[in-house]
Amino acid sequence: MKTDSNRRDILRNATVLVAAAATISLPGSLLVLPASAKPDPKKPETKEPEVTATEDLMREHGVIRRALLVYFETVPKLRQNAASVDPSALRQTAQLFRTFGEDYHEKMLEEQHIFPLVRKQGGELERYADILTAQHNRGREITDYVLAVTNGSKMSAVHAEPLAEVLESFVLMYENHAAREDTIVFPAWKKNFSNKQLDEISDQFEEIEHKMFGKDGFEDAEKKISNIEGMLGFADLSRFTPPAPPKV
Ligand SMILES: [Fe+2]
Ligand SMILES: [Fe+2]
Repeated sequence: MKTDSNRRDILRNATVLVAAAATISLPGSLLVLPASAKPDPKKPETKEPEVTATEDLMREHGVIRRALLVYFETVPKLRQNAASVDPSALRQTAQLFRTFGEDYHEKMLEEQHIFPLVRKQGGELERYADILTAQHNRGREITDYVLAVTNGSKMSAVHAEPLAEVLESFVLMYENHAAREDTIVFPAWKKNFSNKQLDEISDQFEEIEHKMFGKDGFEDAEKKISNIEGMLGFADLSRFTPPAPPKV
């Protein structure tokens, strides 16, 4: 967890980092750091690299997208053999979506800080802010539903198809939602500020995260989604590499 003081340190050390970067040589495509710039394994790392406000929001989307992938992978299983679906894994995913995605990322950051300013920019952006807010609200109804139908020890056959349909539509909505935020809404919001102001906002976001989770919310959420992926056998990324396409 970054503290205010080491955030300031980061700024102070920025010049040192730039100087170190200037000494990086490029043989072919490989970056080689000079010995003086290489981390010393014996020395404990005291400085963390800066995480900007928009980078923070986008890496939170990374955790959210991994939760969406859990939902996506569950849909065919619900249709083929609902009894094989572990309701506790789905429930933990929905709980993570609620605490990290909805209560923190959506309510505390986007709805408090991002959307009000973007709405004032008018035109298409104003419309985006309205649609994205409506989608947050619909998402919360869906999370309530997922939590309600995954309460038992086994997945009920009665809920299997309705849940599959709900998850399918939710994944499609939220993938579009997060992609528009990353490529349209966050860049438009960022234009309202100088670099110094953005750094201050980044500190504010850190404080909100600290207040809500008592430690680094991102690290904790990343661990949680990793554990869920492990429970479901999704931990190995290479599992998702498709076979080569047919030869034409
Ligand atoms: Fe959002
Ligand atoms: Fe978002």
